[in-house]
Amino acid sequence: MPSIESLISAESIQARVAELGRQISADYAGEEITVVPVLKGSFVFAADLVRHIDVPLAIDFLGLRSYEGTESSGVVQITSDLTKSIEGKHIVVVEDIVDTGLTMQYLMQNLSTRKPASVKLCSLLHKPSRTTVEIDIDYLGFTIEDVFVIGYGLDYDQHYRNLPFLGVLTPGVS
Ligand code: IMP
Repeated sequence: MPSIESLISAESIQARVAELGRQISADYAGEEITVVPVLKGSFVFAADLVRHIDVPLAIDFLGLRSYEGTESSGVVQITSDLTKSIEGKHIVVVEDIVDTGLTMQYLMQNLSTRKPASVKLCSLLHKPSRTTVEIDIDYLGFTIEDVFVIGYGLDYDQHYRNLPFLGVLTPGVS
């Protein structure tokens, strides 16, 4: 049986998410934004985050797939695209984690071709020791070491997304 070690508690996550929401609200005061949560990993984070943003906003989801198990497949696929044009809109992409950075490099480039007024990135987590491409994270929750994390929306083979905290999965010894 694998064991799960807590890395970031539910309370710490909630406090940081509230701060991020306040920061985004201050930066976009007087504007309207479109929040683009990247599915599936950011759905829990995004649901909490938007409740701390007090500027008018729309939400449109974008589904991406880049990982199989714990390894990047190296190919980013849009599994479900935005439902509306983002031309002229202020976009805040909400991601669960920037690891190698390849997924966000692809997405930010892809979105910029759709002529938005601006695109910023809000990521719950960043593993800088693994990042191989330059990615500007405008709003960052936590920087973490090179460990595979689960919970609060993040999965291992589609499991553990429902944990309220962020944990590290340690394979069990048999
Ligand atoms: P990147 O393209 O290597 O930056 O990978 C980004 C995507 O990989 C994230 O959106 C996650 O879906 C997945 N990912 C990367 N590291 C982890 C992790 O530690 N736990 C769960 N998913 C991860």
